[in-house]
Amino acid sequence: MKKIFLLGATGSIGTSTLEVIRKYPKDFELVGVSANSNMKKLEMIIKEFKPKYAVLTREHSFKDCDYCKFLVGEKSYEEILFSEDVDIILIAISGIAGLYPTIKAIESGKRVVSANKESLVAAGDIVLKHLEKYNQTIFPVDSEHNAIFNIFSRIEKNFIKKIILTASGGPFLKKEITERTSIEEVLAHPTWNMGNYITVNSATMMNKGFEVIEAHYLFKMEYERIDVLIHPQSLVHGIVETIDGTHFMGASPNDMKFPIALALFYPAIPEQKFKSINLYEKPLEFFKVDQRKFPLLEFCYEMGRIGGLAPTVLNATNEYFVDSFLKGKIKFSNLPSKIIKTTEKFINTTKPERGYSLEDVFTIDSEVRKFCEKL
Ligand SMILES: NC(=O)c1ccc[n+]([C@@H]2O[C@H](COP(=O)([O-])OP(=O)(O)OC[C@H]3O[C@@H](n4cnc5c(N)ncnc54)[C@H](OP(=O)(O)O)[C@@H]3O)[C@@H](O)[C@H]2O)c1
Repeated sequence: MKKIFLLGATGSIGTSTLEVIRKYPKDFELVGVSANSNMKKLEMIIKEFKPKYAVLTREHSFKDCDYCKFLVGEKSYEEILFSEDVDIILIAISGIAGLYPTIKAIESGKRVVSANKESLVAAGDIVLKHLEKYNQTIFPVDSEHNAIFNIFSRIEKNFIKKIILTASGGPFLKKEITERTSIEEVLAHPTWNMGNYITVNSATMMNKGFEVIEAHYLFKMEYERIDVLIHPQSLVHGIVETIDGTHFMGASPNDMKFPIALALFYPAIPEQKFKSINLYEKPLEFFKVDQRKFPLLEFCYEMGRIGGLAPTVLNATNEYFVDSFLKGKIKFSNLPSKIIKTTEKFINTTKPERGYSLEDVFTIDSEVRKFCEKL
């Protein structure tokens, strides 16, 4: 029986993780949960799972409870992360807010399972150094990285030529993006049901660009050896090509419960509890990405190659403008150019250094947001 501390329990990945825990009651117990503001959902989770700890990152008034200790604020993660009550830490927080708990989770020596790609995008070098220092691994939940991780870790690295991440292409694969494109159209993802922020990123393909940077750090692969292919069915998630030209593909339904369960059980493979795919039902297609329609993908490669704090800046401009779009302040058709121009402008004016600390990441992140606000 492994004890799980689930950070971001109220979100989309959090909800799928709870379903996995429900299906494997002999293997996992939920001992801690966290949320930012969704007190109502958190209370429902606490009632059902009776965890020992609950963290709220924003101040809230809450009723105390016999079995559950309530803690407030980011710093209170630590008490639980380092507690003997916890074996596995699953980070399902969205955005850069996932960075601090990721760093602390690595230090705790517990198994770190993470869906939070932003911490690797914004602070990849620091996270990587920390993993090496504490002799730790991140078990990825992102379906592409999870598929690749499961193949990659079973093949000697010398034999691997490249890795390929697949992308559904989002709602605009075959549809035009116009000045009138609405928020509803952007949020209508054809194959995945996810939180709003990542759904917008999927529509611009920024999500895939972030995943390329995430893969660069997770698998220690040069950008030249990471490819992206459009695969509209979202069934093959990741591919590893070996030096002889063989392609090993990882396929499962477009259901995050599969990669979550695999990451929790790794290296074991769990007994099947969720509906799988019938490969004869749909043809599997693969296409090249239309770079003109989705310029943010190539821009991520560019920022990733510059390295240092460039991806940190990109992550912050993206969070800022996606939020502006979701609030109806800017048009979807203008989103990529705003992100690209602002990132370039910030980098050209401030020239962020290559060697950097965790504090620099948070400083740059807040400076970028102020810079965007001014623009
Ligand atoms: N959804 C997917 O299918 C999917 C797939 C692959 C990777 N991912 C990655 O997984 C992560 C989570 O995505 P999601 O779609 O599950 O997001 P989501 O539905 O928006 O949920 C985000 C979770 O993080 C919490 N949170 C938000 N801001 C916070 C803050 N400042 N401090 C602490 N907690 C905060 C939220 O709490 P409240 O509910 O209280 O606000 C919620 O529990 C992201 O990094 C995303 O890129 C998601």
